[in-house]
Amino acid sequence: MTDAPVDPTSTAAWSRLTALVVDFEPDLRRWFDEDAGRVERLTYTAGDLYVDLSKALLDEPVLAALLDLADEVGVTGRRDAMFRGEHINVTEDRAVLHTALRLPADAAPGERPSVDGQDVVADVHDVLRRVYDFADRVRSGAWTGVTGTRIRTVVNIGIGGSDLGPVMAFEALAPYRQVGLECRFISNIDPTDAATTLAGLDPASTLFIVSSKTFGTLETLTNARLCKAWLLDGLRSSDPALDERSAVAKHFVAVSTALDKVADFGIDPDNAFGFWDWVGGRYSLDSAIGTSLVVAIGPERFSELLAGFHEIDEHFRTTEPARNVPLLMGLLNIWYTDFLGAETHAVLPYAQLLHRFPAYLQQLTMESNGKSVRWDGSPVTTDTGEIFWGEPGTNGQHAFYQLIHQGTRLVPADFIAVANPAYPLRDTQDGQDVDVHELLLANFLAQTRALAFGKTADEVRAEGTEEAVVPARVFTGNRPTTSILAPELSPSVLGQLVALYEHITFTQGAVWGIDSFDQWGVELGKQLAQQVGPALSGDAEALAEQDPSTPALIAYYQEHRRR
Ligand code: F6P
Repeated sequence: MTDAPVDPTSTAAWSRLTALVVDFEPDLRRWFDEDAGRVERLTYTAGDLYVDLSKALLDEPVLAALLDLADEVGVTGRRDAMFRGEHINVTEDRAVLHTALRLPADAAPGERPSVDGQDVVADVHDVLRRVYDFADRVRSGAWTGVTGTRIRTVVNIGIGGSDLGPVMAFEALAPYRQVGLECRFISNIDPTDAATTLAGLDPASTLFIVSSKTFGTLETLTNARLCKAWLLDGLRSSDPALDERSAVAKHFVAVSTALDKVADFGIDPDNAFGFWDWVGGRYSLDSAIGTSLVVAIGPERFSELLAGFHEIDEHFRTTEPARNVPLLMGLLNIWYTDFLGAETHAVLPYAQLLHRFPAYLQQLTMESNGKSVRWDGSPVTTDTGEIFWGEPGTNGQHAFYQLIHQGTRLVPADFIAVANPAYPLRDTQDGQDVDVHELLLANFLAQTRALAFGKTADEVRAEGTEEAVVPARVFTGNRPTTSILAPELSPSVLGQLVALYEHITFTQGAVWGIDSFDQWGVELGKQLAQQVGPALSGDAEALAEQDPSTPALIAYYQEHRRR
């Protein structure tokens, strides 16, 4: 699909939104008072997710115009092109088929996309079977290290999409992990990461998964070499005659689209799990990139995760726009970003297990939609990708919520919670039995209420507040939130949440007319790092090629570095 994108600002709907925003005076108190049907009308379900947009800064004319905008720019047409496997990633000339990773093996012929005549669903399930078999062998103890010792720790080496998804899901699904089998993750080129992650591990019982789509990423290959040296040194200390090839074969597996490079690195192709160029790194958690997670939670739970993804894919693919949750949430973000001037978007999980979810979403949303040109190379005509950030509640409440409640900036926020806690602890307060999860949920509910409805000066005065401090204690309200609830943080619900944000991101990119599946913006820094490296080590010629600031920084480094 290489047609020129429709300029969203040229549509009739955009003109309507531009007119509507002029007189837009959000008043959630009044809207709720005057409209008894608001909550029901603006509450939606998608799979197990209950999504309440009633506290959004949204009224009926705006919602109608946003839906018209989606129609005029052709969001659903682009969605269908994605599901069909068309090359909607135009700057890399690739299909975008992460949704095929979670299609059931017996998906109907009309739902099985093919790339270059190849049935990708069959390929996906072939690899899945191999990953599941490998994970089962590690989990049961059938796969041992070279000394015959059972594997106790699996270390995933990867960065970006080859790290953030597995880490986030490993944390989120902690209650589902196999006891006695630990996973650790090394991503950063900072040698501290490898050093501290390997500390205390026994090489004989440690297995490494080198995860890299391209198998050319400096960080991952460097860390993989460090781990290989650590492994061989450790094993050699008790067996000087160690056969290195057998040791690497028993302690290293790889996940990549570049299986030739895996072999060059010395990893047995039998121990490599492939995926395809039509899976973007930040969309790859549910490919073989999730192998460490499969080892941790087992194939059955991983299949439930995939089924959760698929449920939301189906919702996005088949639900009419007016009830289509990812589409609506994406359009709402367009309203906030391009009409109400929001620059950031907070994601606030009231679920400690989701503590890495905001970090995961940062790559998903910002690497996808942080673009200034459209897919035909023309400049964008609006602001694009917001800055996503967040921390779990209630920790955030005691840190940055002050700004969300009383600051000068508009910060739309998604609040996420589950009905059933993973750990249903109870407390005793003043002789009363207390469900601690309810303390958490009370905060979730209180925060969205305070943000929406605020507190007027008269209400502050009525509490007997001294007049001089009344202004400081006023809450304006009308600070928008979306509440997302689910029954529990099961593997399926996690898959549903991730797919929800994938399709929100897609919707925004489609409206803006950008290619949400490339990431050229990360390349220049990588190139310059190669160029500056020799300068750092004292190469005069390389030093002479730098800008005036860089040699000064290098001089400081050289003066202070202890050798
Ligand atoms: O530099 C950005 C990036 O290309 C991401 O898009 C990707 O997830 C990450 O690097 C890691 O890439 P790879 O899996 O190829 O090592």
